[in-house]
Amino acid sequence: VTAEPFPAFDHRPQGMWRYRSLLPIGDGPIRYPLPVGGSPLTGPAVLRDRLGLPDLWVKDETVGTSGSNKDRATALVIEDGLRSGATTITTASTGNAAVATALGAAAAGIRAVIFVPAGCAEAKVAVMRSAGALVLRVVDGYRAAFELSRAAARHFGWLDRNTGVNPLTLHAKKTVAFEIWEQLGRAVPDVVVVPVGDGPTVLAMGRGFRELESLGLTNRVPRLIGVQASGCQPLAREWHGRPDSPVRHSGTIADGIDVPEPISGVEALAEVARSGGAFVAVPDAAMLAAIGMLASTAGVTCEPAGAAGLAGLLKARRMGLVAAGERVVVLVTGRELVVGADVPLEGGEALIAARLDEVERYAGALA
Ligand SMILES: Cc1ncc(COP(=O)(O)O)c(C=O)c1O
Repeated sequence: VTAEPFPAFDHRPQGMWRYRSLLPIGDGPIRYPLPVGGSPLTGPAVLRDRLGLPDLWVKDETVGTSGSNKDRATALVIEDGLRSGATTITTASTGNAAVATALGAAAAGIRAVIFVPAGCAEAKVAVMRSAGALVLRVVDGYRAAFELSRAAARHFGWLDRNTGVNPLTLHAKKTVAFEIWEQLGRAVPDVVVVPVGDGPTVLAMGRGFRELESLGLTNRVPRLIGVQASGCQPLAREWHGRPDSPVRHSGTIADGIDVPEPISGVEALAEVARSGGAFVAVPDAAMLAAIGMLASTAGVTCEPAGAAGLAGLLKARRMGLVAAGERVVVLVTGRELVVGADVPLEGGEALIAARLDEVERYAGALA
């Protein structure tokens, strides 16, 4: 793989800040202290042989600080916040954006108040707390956690990192497209396969490639295939003309994409349609099989949502959506971190109803 830089950016380091002239932040030193972006794009021969896809590539977003693709948006939002003197950051999350925020905030010296659905994975809450975050588990689920986090940001004046809402999150995520283009020797693939929960990851992927097109750096954009879980597939159902309702949501082990009411759903559907791509849905068993396949043929370990892209690619092949000779990139989005049982968990944790006075009770001292 060649990694020829943008001509004007020869002196830039690897990683997300390489593209800072295409990001909405000003000049001056980057204050965000952790490495971000620059994830590997590998062409695993064993996996290629197994799938009969000789031009298959794996974009491994599990390698960063928090083990997921959420580090990029976290870094850009915190960088922006540090420039304006923010002292507390908040987000709602199914888990990974929260872990990324807790770790990024800890390193940046600001406080994190995290809103998760009550059923958020214990292992992820433990990582957040080990980083000192206050974790508020909202009984009414993820959408309520999202609304409450936004209301709290407004009420207390906290930095709002909520996905798809803060436009910086999309700008940060588009850098994955820039990296893929550079890593393929300044060329775009035919297809990119992306797990989809709230929608910003696939939306920003499309926007990133379209930005390259508008800069005259490519004359076409890849087809985007969005992958959802069979037990939670509002966008795949919408795509196939069978709109879902939250009531029929049976759930999935892939917590990162267990989002019955996607925040950026409309935009994600439009972006996928514009690219000439499609949505597919895969059962939990297919994601588990894909985790095993990634480990045994590509040396990549990940969680179920992280493997949804590969599971979706297998389904898309069976559906005739991807041809054998095409250049395909699969995005692997996350790997679960683990905190040892005896590690002190400094942050706090509470189960709350979706009300501001509940937030005040636990986080008021921080405001
Ligand atoms: C591992 C993993 N994959 C995919 C996604 C889906 O990303 P998005 O919500 O941007 O669609 C998430 C979101 O939490 C995730 O944690």
